[in-house]
Amino acid sequence: MTFSFPKLLLPLLFLGLLPGPAAMAQKKKPAPTTASPADIERRVADLLAQMTLEEKVGQLNQYSGREVTGPANDRKNTLLTSIRNGQVGSMLNVKGVHDTREIQAEALKSRLKIPLLFSLDVIHGYQTTFPIPLAEAASWDLDAIRLGAHVAAREAAASGIHWTFAPMVDVGRDPRWGRVMEGAGEDTYLSAQIARARVLGFQGEKLGGTDAVMACAKHFAAYGAATAGRDYNAVDLSPQQLWETYLPPFKAAADAGVATFMNSFNTLNGIPATSNAYLQRDILKGQWQYPGFVVSDWGSIKELVTWGYAADKADAAKKAVTAGSDMDMEGDVYSQSLAQLVKDGRVKIDLVDDAVRRILRKKFELGLFDDAYRFSDEKREKQVLNDPQNRAAARQMAQKSLVLLKNENATLPLGNQLRKIALIGPIAKSRRDLDGSWTVNADTARITSLYDGLRQRAGKATELLYAKGCTVSGDSRAGFDQAVATAKNADVIVLAVGETWDMTGEAKSRTDIHLPGVQEELFKALKATGKPVVVVVFGGRPLIFDAIAEQADAILYAWWPGSEGGLALADVLYGDYNPAGKLPITFPRNVGQIPIAYNQQYNTGRPLLKPGENRYRSAYIDAPNTPRYAFGYGLSYTAFTYSDLKISRPQLKAGESVQVSFTLTNTGKVAGEEVAQLYLRDPVASLVRPLRELKDFRKISLKPGESKTVTFTIDKDKLAFYNSTLEWVAEPGKFNLMIGSASDDIRLEGAVELQ
Ligand code: BGC
Repeated sequence: MTFSFPKLLLPLLFLGLLPGPAAMAQKKKPAPTTASPADIERRVADLLAQMTLEEKVGQLNQYSGREVTGPANDRKNTLLTSIRNGQVGSMLNVKGVHDTREIQAEALKSRLKIPLLFSLDVIHGYQTTFPIPLAEAASWDLDAIRLGAHVAAREAAASGIHWTFAPMVDVGRDPRWGRVMEGAGEDTYLSAQIARARVLGFQGEKLGGTDAVMACAKHFAAYGAATAGRDYNAVDLSPQQLWETYLPPFKAAADAGVATFMNSFNTLNGIPATSNAYLQRDILKGQWQYPGFVVSDWGSIKELVTWGYAADKADAAKKAVTAGSDMDMEGDVYSQSLAQLVKDGRVKIDLVDDAVRRILRKKFELGLFDDAYRFSDEKREKQVLNDPQNRAAARQMAQKSLVLLKNENATLPLGNQLRKIALIGPIAKSRRDLDGSWTVNADTARITSLYDGLRQRAGKATELLYAKGCTVSGDSRAGFDQAVATAKNADVIVLAVGETWDMTGEAKSRTDIHLPGVQEELFKALKATGKPVVVVVFGGRPLIFDAIAEQADAILYAWWPGSEGGLALADVLYGDYNPAGKLPITFPRNVGQIPIAYNQQYNTGRPLLKPGENRYRSAYIDAPNTPRYAFGYGLSYTAFTYSDLKISRPQLKAGESVQVSFTLTNTGKVAGEEVAQLYLRDPVASLVRPLRELKDFRKISLKPGESKTVTFTIDKDKLAFYNSTLEWVAEPGKFNLMIGSASDDIRLEGAVELQ
């Protein structure tokens, strides 16, 4: 068996953009398990028939095991006893070959020797850190995103992990919500494409390879719509919004074969997602016929009591299992009540059997019954975690995720002739902040800071001056003088500002998303020197920065770019890589504009016709309606023109499709990539439709002067929406189509008519 590279990625391989299979494989890996689905069903049924009620309930419990591997402690003793008694189905937060082996050995002492599933939040890399998911989404590069997930899976799987709690496929339209960093942004179409790419990247073609892990589509569902952007909050949503905006990425993940789902902390129209039978039984396991299992979110079954939806833990267990939650993550609710509920006739054994079957099936598919230690091989762990090819892939992904927001007078790229660069700012030398939140095994020593990256790239003839200037938060301006003095001495200033790694993420909602502290003040002081200022902004969400947006010479949005971020930033700052990232989420001018996602904009009965003329118009009297940076926006060091729009036919009927093509030309002096975006609007419909919705995109690479024809296909599905009775319909009539470089930069317009 040789290492086979996912087919989708082959073109990149030939372009030399990805590490080659020979290098990535290095050693032959064990084949995926070959048991047929029928074999697995038979073995699951045999095993289930031997299980006591207590052992069945045991499979439904998952515990966090940070304490389980260290020195003796009470929790460790309790957990190990439970594992030996067959009362635990899965552990999270136990990682590494040594520790997973040790704990698996305990499970194999249980009566039926059912192996444990080891799970972990491998969100954007394991040992090698990739850019945060929101940043990866800015690449609009599905092959690269898939490769990123594959590399993360390969590392995690070599370290004893069977299952990652990723991808988070929640559509995130509210930048106050800290978890926007974990998703693919505000657009449903893009999120669904990325959901599929990530699932295939984590899982490979089929579960069972030791370079793949089970993926988990989370958080089912509508977690991203948390009221006021406050984490764990209630969600009130129209059925149309649920189906049209929030469910499609989950459906895409299910269609891609995602092994598991995780439910969520929020309510949906009054019913907590964890005990929501409509979501889990009717939609997921019913309409979608989903064969995998659903894990609760951390303690979310127990929280049904806190919400005021269950009277006590037993009631919570009953409601959750009835609604389709198969595994209880760190709640200890199923373990305490479920067996008794079955004995009392309050929960049918069939529900428990169904949940157990779903979980056992995955353990068989992973091959754990044949070899419980097949993911725990010390040699492989060492080799894979130190594979330089993983870092090369992370660097390429980081390059692709950077978004050039501004570049006046071609300030960037930095020229090789520059003799002195002043690198200023609180994040200039930081390593930890480049990784961002949700890192699980990262090693800070392996991270390249922006300073390190620039130092390496700039070469001996260029002096790299440095001053911190200020901290990220806090109001001290004590470092300003030194920063200004340093800047005065340089040809150009590169200012590294942003958020620290722990300012965005779970439980990190904010009402103020301005660049924290006095960082904008520092910028103004530097700008006053008259030197060109290039600002590199690090963060996990859209941040607001006014003076920088208005006065900086160039702005590069770095997000949290991962362990190779410093190198990738130097590549882009020097023009060795031409930036092509496009924003997957709108950047507001102020928090008061939220919700401001591009596809939440309607014409209204009183559209704002001219900026400023806002009397009795749908507008603000103190701010424009437009965001600071629109969805889909991002600059390049070259320029592209869009021309020759051709629509293959003006009308279509159901079952037919229309080809829409145009010519994209690189009119600049350097090679570059453009993400051409197709938007549609249904201008007259039985439910008012948004002004534009993304329906397709292409990332095209062009040499200077080169042109290519780009073609999009429009069929009925692209024209459809959920009507008032929740039917997916395309209503006859005209549709406006818009093709452009960003949602607010439409270059070509046309129309098609559905008959
Ligand atoms: C998060 C999940 C995560 C889980 C396990 C929860 O708090 O919401 O996304 O997978 O913890 O770490």
